[in-house]
Amino acid sequence: MHSRPYLLLAALALTATPSYALDIDINSVDSISAAAKTIAARVVAIYGIDNQATGTVGNGSTAPGIFPDPYYWWESGLAWDSMVRYWALTGDATYNDLVREGLLFQIGPNANFTPPNQTKSEGNDDQATWALAAMTAAENNFPAPPEGLDITWAKLAQNVFDSQVARWDTDTCGGGLRWQIFSFNTGYTYKNSLSNGNLVQLAARLALYTGNTTYRDWAQKATQWSLDVGFIGNSGQVWDGTATTTNCSEFNHIQWTSSVGTYLSGAAYAANKSSTKFWQTLNLLLPVSINTTFTTQGGVLYEVACEPSKNCDTDQLAFKAVLARALANARDLTLDTSLYHRDSNQSSFSNSSASNPGTPAGSLHASIDAILRTSAQAAAAQCSGGEAYGTDCGSMWTAATWDGTTGLGQELSALEILLANLPAKALAKSNSTSTTGTGSAGNGTATAGSTSGGPSSSSSAGASTTAATSTNGAMAGSEGSTFALVCGLGMAAALVL
Ligand SMILES: *[C@@H]1O[C@H](CO)[C@@H](O)[C@H](O)[C@H]1NC(C)=O
Ligand SMILES: *[C@@H]1O[C@H](CO)[C@@H](O)[C@H](O)[C@H]1NC(C)=O
Ligand SMILES: *[C@@H]1O[C@H](CO)[C@@H](O)[C@H](O)[C@H]1NC(C)=O
Ligand SMILES: *[C@@H]1O[C@H](CO)[C@@H](O)[C@H](O)[C@H]1NC(C)=O
Ligand SMILES: *[C@@H]1O[C@H](CO)[C@@H](O)[C@H](O)[C@H]1NC(C)=O
Ligand SMILES: *[C@@H]1O[C@H](CO)[C@@H](O)[C@H](O)[C@H]1NC(C)=O
Ligand SMILES: *[C@@H]1O[C@H](CO)[C@@H](O)[C@H](O)[C@H]1NC(C)=O
Ligand SMILES: *[C@@H]1O[C@H](CO)[C@@H](O)[C@H](O)[C@H]1NC(C)=O
Ligand SMILES: *[C@@H]1O[C@H](CO)[C@@H](O)[C@H](O)[C@H]1NC(C)=O
Ligand SMILES: *[C@@H]1O[C@H](CO)[C@@H](O)[C@H](O)[C@H]1NC(C)=O
Repeated sequence: MHSRPYLLLAALALTATPSYALDIDINSVDSISAAAKTIAARVVAIYGIDNQATGTVGNGSTAPGIFPDPYYWWESGLAWDSMVRYWALTGDATYNDLVREGLLFQIGPNANFTPPNQTKSEGNDDQATWALAAMTAAENNFPAPPEGLDITWAKLAQNVFDSQVARWDTDTCGGGLRWQIFSFNTGYTYKNSLSNGNLVQLAARLALYTGNTTYRDWAQKATQWSLDVGFIGNSGQVWDGTATTTNCSEFNHIQWTSSVGTYLSGAAYAANKSSTKFWQTLNLLLPVSINTTFTTQGGVLYEVACEPSKNCDTDQLAFKAVLARALANARDLTLDTSLYHRDSNQSSFSNSSASNPGTPAGSLHASIDAILRTSAQAAAAQCSGGEAYGTDCGSMWTAATWDGTTGLGQELSALEILLANLPAKALAKSNSTSTTGTGSAGNGTATAGSTSGGPSSSSSAGASTTAATSTNGAMAGSEGSTFALVCGLGMAAALVL
């Protein structure tokens, strides 16, 4: 629903179109931080806060925490997540108050990111996106919510976890989260990888942060179910989703960077918590699959399902942000392993202890790092658009010149790929999710609006609701057979332990 007219500040249009681009030195922390700073300012401009000051053309936010049309609610959560990480990795606290206010305004009366304004359209993936932002705040000791709220960042994440686990649906497909929370929404009969992968990620991060084994067990359980039902294919592909009406027997085989990304982040955090073969294998399998599906020959990330055809929608333009973060997590939170190309005369995977494991292809971490470096440079070159600044980011990192598009998703994707090239920070841990140690949920109502009937969206985070007709055989899901997945890879990968 688009109820507000947007400002056309044509009078302020500049006469000349400067062409700056974000010129980065990929080896310089200062250079990358400076480029990130430019993008962070752009994100806040899109939020609408400094429209007056900058002459930016924008629709303006309707409530704290909400980016204006055409951005759906979930993407605002993603934006705050990126802005928290921006502060954590660059130390620039300029926007912290704004970010904190936005996050807290949307927590809703139950302090679990279900504000009444969103009830009509909120999906599990949307809710989790906000919880993951709260988790990023917790892990980085972002300035805590005001004492009067009696809430912590981690407690908000835990509340979302609790509400999602309560929705784990064993009536169909042997488990899993449905895409939509509410039965009156189209998509309630769809189980999607983004919702389930987000739960995996949330659980894995809560597990590492708190040490509470409930979270560890759910990360494992939700991943195992995803493998069993076939969300994660034999070569590490992550499919979009499947319908409950078929008992999850037929898949929509579209692949999105965000879906594989959120599972990868989950696997990386889980492996950091407990480096079992199960998690180590996923941390090999998913990057190799990502490399095959979502990078060009030159190693630049792209959204394969819509970018080449230039028809990515608003949501989809933000997905690469999720993947960029995930690849950084896989590099920074896991133990390194070795990659091996399968030689052409080998019919199947052979590991590093075999007599001929294949052609060494370097370390997993180095390989991921190469993708992140190449993509960041390509993304920076895309940030050369817009009349006002000449640094607005386009989406097609594979293109030599600006693709002519601007928007929040483009900025967030560019921001995350830059941040992925900054030195990682140690993550905070706490065995408690509340400041008081009582586990009190707080009342969370102080800043959260409770007016219903506000703007609502008709779409959740980008998943398609059309189930494809082809089938995907469910794979056996034990640790052993998951490991055997690696055997099916075009490029074999081996663990060196
Ligand atoms: C304002 O919202 C409308 C309707 O969603 C959208 O078409 C337009 O692109 C938005 N303007 C800006 C500058 O984002
Ligand atoms: C709820 O939060 C508000 C605002 O911080 C506070 O004034 C109020 O006392 C709290 N209520 C309860 C029951 O904790
Ligand atoms: C639905 O799928 C689940 C998981 O694969 C399976 O356990 C269950 O038996 C299936 N139910 C029907 C009615 O086929
Ligand atoms: C562990 O997490 C679960 C799920 O949020 C929670 O119900 C339980 O109270 C937690 N246990 C402890 C000891 O904090
Ligand atoms: C990605 O592919 C390139 C080129 O084939 C290869 O050199 C690199 O090792 C691969 N990286 C991963 C993580 O598989
Ligand atoms: C966990 O991550 C940290 C970096 O935050 C890294 O130093 C450590 O080696 C990782 N541990 C495991 C078991 O992967
Ligand atoms: C496969 O090819 C590699 C490289 O060409 C060679 O070193 C190796 O001996 C061959 N292995 C077999 C089983 O033929
Ligand atoms: C690796 O290869 C050795 C030697 O061929 C074999 O004994 C071992 O089981 C293999 N390990 C895995 C995980 O496939
Ligand atoms: C949490 O950590 C504190 C301080 O390290 C410790 O005293 C307390 O026993 C821990 N609580 C649990 C439930 O592990
Ligand atoms: C809900 O929408 C109303 C009307 O637009 C607005 O005043 C209120 O601040 C919104 N609440 C939240 C939490 O966004």
